[in-house]
Amino acid sequence: MELDGLLKWLFETAMATSIRENDWLFPMIESFHVLAVTVFLGSIVWVDLRILGVANSDRGLRRFAKELLPITWSMFAIAVISGLALFTSNALNYAHNIYFQLKILLLVVAGLNMMIFQLWFSARAEAYDPSHAARVGAVQQAGMSKFRQKLHEISFFWSGKWSALLSVLIWVTVIALGRWIGFSIQPTLAG
Ligand code: HEM
Repeated sequence: MELDGLLKWLFETAMATSIRENDWLFPMIESFHVLAVTVFLGSIVWVDLRILGVANSDRGLRRFAKELLPITWSMFAIAVISGLALFTSNALNYAHNIYFQLKILLLVVAGLNMMIFQLWFSARAEAYDPSHAARVGAVQQAGMSKFRQKLHEISFFWSGKWSALLSVLIWVTVIALGRWIGFSIQPTLAG
């Protein structure tokens, strides 16, 4: 109830009213949202494909990801700001829309997935170096038996790939949910 009161207040702010009532504002903000989402997702999926070994396998992952990171974060910021602006225009109905709720939940899961991968990856970055020698050197440094090295390599690559695959699936679902909100949302404040 308290949250609904806050959402109603948000809905009645001057900014939300302009976005809702002006013929151009909502479509313009949504265009920025979609453009930012496109570039943001493009950069993430590119890294995911690199982890999956489908693209750019000749490039070190750490450097590759670092080059893309400024684009990823700036586009994410635009997506969040424009998404919040769209949200205010119909806050109560969006907040009660199941597709919107699932989308926000998946954004959190995607963030957690990225954080876990990042933590786990930072200890094993050498293994994603394109040079085989660097990979072998990194594993040997750990002083493992050949059998354990193999196990380590297999589990490492598998878990890394699962994280990337999960990431691609999550983002495709977020896009579908984002679109679905538009099909299912009540155009005006209910009640
Ligand atoms: C960065 C991750 C995000 C992705 C991938 C994403 C994706 C999308 C997509 C594909 C659409 C549909 C555009 C269309 O109708 O053509 C959309 C719309 C929308 N998004 Fe996002 N979004 C993201 C973040 C956010 C955030 C953080 C919020 C708000 C807190 C948000 C709120 C909205 C709203 C309110 C709409 C309009 C739905 C409608 O058509 O009524 N989005 N988003």
